[in-house]
Amino acid sequence: MRRVILDVDTGHDDAIAIAMAAGLKDRIRIEGLIATAGNQVRENTLENTLNLAEALEIDAPVFAGSSSPLLRDRVTAGNIHGKNGFEGPVFPPRQKQQCQGNGIRWAIDHVIANPGEITFVSVGPWTDLAVMLKSDERFAPALKEIVLMGGAVDHPGNVTESAEFNVFADPEAAEIVMKSGVPTTLFSLDVTLKLLLTDSVIEKVKKMENSRYKEIFLSSMAFYTASIMKSNGEMPAMHDPCTIAYLADPSIFTYSHRPITVETKGGYTYGKTTGGKENPQSPVKMGVEVDNDRFWSLFFEAVRRLP
Ligand code: RIB
Ligand code: CA
Repeated sequence: MRRVILDVDTGHDDAIAIAMAAGLKDRIRIEGLIATAGNQVRENTLENTLNLAEALEIDAPVFAGSSSPLLRDRVTAGNIHGKNGFEGPVFPPRQKQQCQGNGIRWAIDHVIANPGEITFVSVGPWTDLAVMLKSDERFAPALKEIVLMGGAVDHPGNVTESAEFNVFADPEAAEIVMKSGVPTTLFSLDVTLKLLLTDSVIEKVKKMENSRYKEIFLSSMAFYTASIMKSNGEMPAMHDPCTIAYLADPSIFTYSHRPITVETKGGYTYGKTTGGKENPQSPVKMGVEVDNDRFWSLFFEAVRRLP
């Protein structure tokens, strides 16, 4: 059983990752969710995360994370994810409230209290994780693993030619995370852009039994597909869900152990992630290839169980 803390900037692909984690409850236990600024401002990502958690009957606590990056000015991705960060689904008034208290302090205390047990998954900017690593030296040694979506190593970025959004939104945080020494598995654009949503997947979801998640998936993917088609001319990639598929079945991917550095001083290359030579000693491994059919089988196994 993988006990996980999910740090998210819910967003369309974050929502699929959260749904898969909730559906695969035989293998993954969501211990808590932390909504951070990223695709949209934190108030929006928190609202989106709470709405989704209630709709999917996720009883884990939802905390507010950071509202801005460590150093740079805040950037968001409203051009892709819409004004509220999760355009498409409409949610009724909800009961679920955010957990009071600081999500970063809660996560540090929870990880330290469960040494070697907790995997920290970050699929938005890595700001919260960087603050945790810097706030308490007991945090890093107590972590089982860090699993990340972000970066573009041997692939152009998606915000600038050099940088992918999650790293671009907080390069100083990304640098801290890449230097943590904690066993880390990274899903960068190098592998996530090999895993695109397809029309046949959408048709298969349409044929599923009606459920709240089916409505949420179809309405959110209608918006997200139109948005990505307009900006990139292709179907949306399953960036964030790669992290959850890895936790459920690591054999869906192949990996390369490479030290990753982050450019924090460059102008044009600000937020670029550079991979060193293959080195089995590197605590960081990155996804390289993905078996799309096995990913989608896992997706349907998960979402068929959702309310
Ligand atoms: O570059 C892709 C990443 O940026 C994903 O996590 C997506 O949700 C956005 O946050
Ligand atoms: Ca995200």
